[in-house]
Amino acid sequence: MRKKVIAGNWKMNMLPNEAIEYIQEFEGLVKDTKNEVILCVPYIDLFYCLNSAQGTNIKIGAQNMHWEEKGAFTGEVSAQMLKSIGVEYVILGHSERRQYFAETDETVNKKIKAAFENGLKPIVCVGETLEQRESGKTAEIITTQTRLALDGLTNDQVKNTIIAYEPIWAIGTGKTATSEDANNSIKEIRAEIEKNYGKDVADEVIIQYGGSVKSANAKELFSMSDIDGGLVGGASLKPDEFAKIVNFDK
Ligand code: 13P
Repeated sequence: MRKKVIAGNWKMNMLPNEAIEYIQEFEGLVKDTKNEVILCVPYIDLFYCLNSAQGTNIKIGAQNMHWEEKGAFTGEVSAQMLKSIGVEYVILGHSERRQYFAETDETVNKKIKAAFENGLKPIVCVGETLEQRESGKTAEIITTQTRLALDGLTNDQVKNTIIAYEPIWAIGTGKTATSEDANNSIKEIRAEIEKNYGKDVADEVIIQYGGSVKSANAKELFSMSDIDGGLVGGASLKPDEFAKIVNFDK
């Protein structure tokens, strides 16, 4: 039985003092959940969040990293650096990074490998645009992104990869995929993993849904057979709203 993993992606929001206040309020609201709770926060908030979340069930993640360990890459942060301060997760290949910062399937793959080499767990985003969806290419796009992202990983590494299926047209738009549609796309992703790594691996991989998740739709989405939780943007910025999403099964 796969557990539910619910991650907030704060994107480029929250100053350190706001982040500390958030965790002080949020912590008490989610302390009894059996679901895994992750906050993926801006680099400058990481240290403050790690400190504030100490001794709680809240895990902290970053939103990106470079694949090289160190060197002349001005403005970049490596997996080793994240790990050194206690970060556990990192979002890789978010569609905003693919769209605005020229992230490719190849760089996503390099980053996933670097994350594992340094003991970080990647949350890897895949998803189709509206145009791709309307031309019937959803399955092809998301299975190709999945295959290329995971290329060359061991079975164990694939088992420990979290995939977030985030249809791009549903991000920040208030439009959610129907729970059936989201579940079907996630089944396609799982079938692609089964094809390349076997049923044992595919059955264990956590695959989240992301795109306009809120407390009003979380229960319906997360109760589907193949949706193992969510990656939540806007609705993760308010501790009470995000706590309701984490506690969707209460
Ligand atoms: P929203 O929940 O704001 O639609 O964002 C989803 C997302 O991109 C999470 O990574």
